[in-house]
Amino acid sequence: MSEQDKRELGAPVQELVDSQGPGSDAAKDASKDLAPEGQTVEAEVDPSAPDRLLGHEYDGIQEYDNPLPGWWTTILWLCVLWSPFYAAWIHGGPERTFLDEFRQESAEIAKRRAAESLKNPVTDESLLTLAQDPNSIQVGANVFATKCVTCHGPQGQGKIGPNLTDSNWILGAAPTRIYITIRDGGRAGKGMRAWSKELGPTEMRQVTAFVLSLKGTTPPDPKAPEGELVE
Ligand code: HEC
Repeated sequence: MSEQDKRELGAPVQELVDSQGPGSDAAKDASKDLAPEGQTVEAEVDPSAPDRLLGHEYDGIQEYDNPLPGWWTTILWLCVLWSPFYAAWIHGGPERTFLDEFRQESAEIAKRRAAESLKNPVTDESLLTLAQDPNSIQVGANVFATKCVTCHGPQGQGKIGPNLTDSNWILGAAPTRIYITIRDGGRAGKGMRAWSKELGPTEMRQVTAFVLSLKGTTPPDPKAPEGELVE
């Protein structure tokens, strides 16, 4: 065993080696985690520099004074100096965190998908895609506020017309079914007319998206469920 190996292994292993002999099983066990057999471990410290042992010793364990490399501490201190400015910047203004960025990007993707889905025929899927897009829902909400609130209530909770926030549907719950109800109206004499003359095709899709977005909301004074329960 070289001098350098001995230094690497430290005092306790050294004691074991001394007491049991270098070839003993115990000595091999103790050293196998430290260096693969037949290889020497390069110490990171400059081998020519004398090792500085610190003055304390606990249970036979002593400690070298090996300071962290300069480049490492330089990076650490640069980070420490940089952090208050970065923290002030990120918390000092609106919409700067990664979460905000994520939300903006998600909204952007939803907007693009919605624009794409409007080019496709009306399907359950394209309507559900639209219902993921805050912009489309907003346009639908505006239509709803002007044309539908008188009968369905400001939050869709129902008035003369049925509650649109619950899971009960008179005319069917599928997104395309809701779209057709809005386009062609309800049963004769019930009061829900066809909106296809007043609303454009895109508006009808957007108000459908808004109705879909109402599902699961719990507005005050909900009208009792009507029609079939659809889970
Ligand atoms: C004059 C009142 C009135 C207005 C305005 C009205 N609705 Fe209706 N709506 C009804 C009634 C009544 C029904 C139930 C129809 C039936 O039983 O066949 C209904 C049914 C519906 C349904 C189907 C509910 C179900 O349970 O199947 C949807 C969706 C709907 N309306 C959406 C709209 C939207 C969107 C608008 C605005 C563009 C609108 N309604 C405007 C009265 C109205």
